Amino acid sequence: MGRATNEVFDDWARRGRAAGMERGHFVRGVQALQAIPLQRGAASLDLGCGNGWAARWLAERTGGPSFGVDAAAEMVAEAARVGGEGSSFARAAFEALPFADGGFSQVFSMEALYYADQLDVALCEARRVLRSQGTLTVCTDFFVENPHCHDWPEKMHIPMTLLTEVAWAEAFERAGFSEVTTFRCLDGRPVDPELPEAQRRSQRHFREQVGALAIQGRA
Ligand SMILES: C[S@@+](CC[C@H](N)C(=O)[O-])C[C@H]1O[C@@H](n2cnc3c(N)ncnc32)[C@H](O)[C@@H]1O
Repeated sequence: MGRATNEVFDDWARRGRAAGMERGHFVRGVQALQAIPLQRGAASLDLGCGNGWAARWLAERTGGPSFGVDAAAEMVAEAARVGGEGSSFARAAFEALPFADGGFSQVFSMEALYYADQLDVALCEARRVLRSQGTLTVCTDFFVENPHCHDWPEKMHIPMTLLTEVAWAEAFERAGFSEVTTFRCLDGRPVDPELPEAQRRSQRHFREQVGALAIQGRA
């Protein structure tokens, strides 16, 4: 493979692509966020936060502190620049979270965990930092049942873990999560008219029929 994942996303941040990811992910991601049984005043964590939009959403809805972590220093800088009351951001890898055990009531991740070098370790870390009965909610466009994403690792030249919906649920269970559920998040926005016809067809099929996969489990 090519460059390290964090270097790719440092470059994306420098080229102003963080806000574009927020625009691209928000409609589907917010459906997964809305499925979290939020604990008012309790702490939230967003893994692979990009520009920090989901951490801000969680801080606004819970009134509690919200943390976003990302391996790319430039993404963390962008998230901190945008700011947000109650939100803070730090550079960290999924596999070694700089937080004590049991400090969070909700952990969320959008379009990020499949970049983990060791997904099982990352899921165990998410569980470690959750209090008992806290929830992990992951939302991903990259999964086997989405036929439009299988070439992403080749296009991006970085490793990604491609799992089926069932395999995601099993990975949550291996990490110790219970009551694991999966659901899809469709996206009713019109497709981008600037795209070539074949890509418009794929985007429409993905948004209207496949949807993003959300997985939720209880610690
Ligand atoms: C596709 S972006 C999604 C960003 C954000 N969640 C959003 O929806 O806009 C994936 C993010 O995960 C981060 N990331 C990738 N591998 C990581 C790792 N091992 N630990 C922490 N962050 C990582 C990347 O730097 C990048 O910012």
